[in-house]
Amino acid sequence: MSGNQTFTIIKPIAVKNNFTGPILKMINEAGFKIKAMKFTHLTKQQAMEFYSVHAGKYFYEELTSFMSSGPIVAAILEKDNAVADYRKLIGATDPAKAEEGTIRKLYAESMSHNAVHGSDSDENAAIESDFFFSKMERY
Ligand code: CMP
Repeated sequence: MSGNQTFTIIKPIAVKNNFTGPILKMINEAGFKIKAMKFTHLTKQQAMEFYSVHAGKYFYEELTSFMSSGPIVAAILEKDNAVADYRKLIGATDPAKAEEGTIRKLYAESMSHNAVHGSDSDENAAIESDFFFSKMERY
């Protein structure tokens, strides 16, 4: 049974390009409720920790430098079947392969500059949410 929460990051390039509002609008209109949200700026060390599952891969250095290059918006989203439905809303990791109308098709520039992150499983949604938010920061 799939859970009802997922975790997202609006990445530095999307924040810099003023896409935070349009992306949050799409999230709301798709039926997700925002359970927690913060505007923050990861250090390189924090980005390396958050993406440690990718440590050693050829894109890890670029990914973690980019993710610590500017402010981001992190959020916990709630909806039935949240992980799968959010991944559908954001589209494929590579924006060139993302379906029309998805967040990445509309707002991403490249594989690493792909506008948003979305958890790939309930387990990772919980781990990633715990990385950013304490219990007191969830409503
Ligand atoms: P994200 O959903 O944040 O999860 C891991 C990120 O690594 C992914 O989005 C991409 O931005 C990045 N990524 C994954 N695969 C590649 C790749 N082959 N080349 C460059 N970046 C990648």
